[in-house]
Formats: sequence, structure tokens, C-alpha cells
Amino acid sequence: MGRDLERLESRLEESIHTEHPFLTEVAGHLIRAGGKRVRPGFVIASASIAQTRPAPADDDVLTGGVAVELVHLGSLYHDDVMDEAQVRRNVASVNAKWGNLRAILAGDFLLARASELAASLGTEVAGLLAATIGRLCEGQVRELQDTGNPDRTESSYTDSIEGKTASLLATSCRIGGLVAGLDRPTVDTLTEFGRCYGLAFQVVDDILDIVATDEHLGKPSGNDLHEGIYTLPVIRALGTVYGPQLRDLLGGTVSDATVRSALQLVQASGGVQEALDVARHYARQASASLEALPATTATAALGVATAHLIERARIPLGDS
Ligand code: IPE
Ligand code: IPE
Ligand code: MG
Ligand code: MG
Repeated sequence: MGRDLERLESRLEESIHTEHPFLTEVAGHLIRAGGKRVRPGFVIASASIAQTRPAPADDDVLTGGVAVELVHLGSLYHDDVMDEAQVRRNVASVNAKWGNLRAILAGDFLLARASELAASLGTEVAGLLAATIGRLCEGQVRELQDTGNPDRTESSYTDSIEGKTASLLATSCRIGGLVAGLDRPTVDTLTEFGRCYGLAFQVVDDILDIVATDEHLGKPSGNDLHEGIYTLPVIRALGTVYGPQLRDLLGGTVSDATVRSALQLVQASGGVQEALDVARHYARQASASLEALPATTATAALGVATAHLIERARIPLGDS
């Protein structure tokens, strides 16, 4: 897959080219900054799930990979405006560098280019990607509605992450399966894998925001609490004996010192461990769906990615 990912990089660079050098520069900012490329990786792996010997990915598969990475990027541009984030992928965020207005417009541009590419893959893929962009917005709005609300429920949290994160990972796998012309049951299994992986992925991301250092994340930790976004470890911590003390620190404008105290309480409460158990549960569901797929190199690669996900959360936790 290494060679496919190299081809993907040049396709990504090309995809955002415009006649306006400034727009090209802003739209390319986070592409140049790197990123794990998980979503295009899933498109490529899903498309090759039935292959018994390795072969280069078809151009259409790479087009699908570029489209989902562009949707991801567009959502990050908009997310960093919403979260007032200053750093992303170890570099200044687009909003920090050029301001909110340009970040929003460039994010729209990335979504537009993604839609154009998806249209070249047929109406089903185009409709699916458009619906997924809608799901991302729903998940983000759901989170926004609960900002600063210490009574945020776990089901509201789960609905939010299903929309803002799991839907695009599910769609990445689905597009890979659709473009490769796989049978419907296989396409549905891949979609379910992506969904469960996506849920685990966001829970892990939310744990890392509580426990990891800024260097580990490539973005500042504690930002969620700072912004009044109460994620699973916090929701679980609020339900423990530490709940009342934690609740007193939440809501309103919080200082850095308050965020640090709240982070310590969440860690002491066992909320982080509980959230890790939930992430493990979703990761197990993701692995279980892989059992219905052919035993190929690509299926094994998806299994490795799932195992790696939980490892990511365990390192800063010192959990063994
Ligand atoms: C970050 O996604 C946004 C979330 C859904 C948590 P990634 O962790 O995949 O970000 P990059 O693409 O590697 O920067
Ligand atoms: C990521 O959400 C953005 C989307 C999934 C659309 P978060 O705000 O939780 O992720 P980070 O921590 O900024 O990457
Ligand atoms: Mg964010
Ligand atoms: Mg956010």
C-alpha cells in the first residue's frame, strides 16, 4: 500500500490546485502538514479486501481516497474555527494563520472539490459523500448544543461522535467497496467495520485530549474542557463521587488553572479508564466484523489498524 499512498499524495496536491495562488496555498496548508491519512488508507484497503495477491490500486480507488481526505480536511478547517484551535498537525491552524473567514471559505472549497471528485465515481458515491457531509454537520451541531452543559448525556455524546467521526470512516470503507464493485453484503460489512472503528477512534481521541501531552497530540491537550466540550471521560467522571467537585469547576469561562484541576479530577475518578473500556468495546466490534471478510492481506491490515488504535491511548496512560 506504500506506493498507493505515494500516488495519493500527488493526487491530493493536484486536487486543490486553482488559478488563485492564495486559495491554493490556504487549501493546501494542512495537506502539506501531513496527517495519518487513515480515511484514504481505508478506501484503498477496502477496495482490495478480496484480492489474494497485492496489486496497485485503481485510479478510481485513489479518487475515492482523495475525496474522503478532502472532506476530512474541510471538516478540520471548520472544526478548528469552532474549537478556536491554534495548532493542527503540529503547525498553526488555518484560522490561526489566516483568520476564521478564510478558514471557512477554504474549508468550503475543499468540500466542493471532494464533491466534484465523488461525482466522477457515479451517483451512488456522490450521494453517499453528500449525505456524509450532512452527518458531519449534524454531529458537530449536536456537540455545539451541549457546549458548557454538565448534564450532557452519554447518548447525546454517542450520537454526536457517530455523526462527526464514525460516519466518514464508515463511508471511506463503503466507497472502497463500491468502487471495487464488491457484493452488497461485503460492502455492508466494511461499512459496519468503519463505523465501529470510527466510534472507537473518537473515544480514543477524546481520552488523549485529557491524558496526553501537547507534543504527543500535535495539538494542545485539555482543549475540549477549555471549550466546554464534555466528552466521555468527563461524562463518566461526573457520575462518580468526584462528580460534585468536578461539576463546580465546569461551565462558564474557565481559566487554565481550572482546566488543569478538572483534568486531574477526571483522571483520579477512573473516568478515563471507563472510557478506554468503551473504546475497547467498539474496537472489538470492529474486529468482529472483519471475521466475515476474506482472510487477505487487506483484511489483516484493517485488523492491525484496529489494534493500533487502542495502543495509542494506552501509551500516555501507562496502562499495560
Ligand atoms: C482528527 O482526525 C479528527 C478526529 C476525527 C478526531 P485524525 O486523527 O485522523 O487526524 P489526522 O488526519 O491524522 O490529522
Ligand atoms: C474533529 O472533532 C472534527 C470532526 C470529526 C469533524 P474534534 O474537535 O473532537 O477533534 P480534534 O481533537 O480537534 O482533532
Ligand atoms: Mg477540534
Ligand atoms: Mg471539535
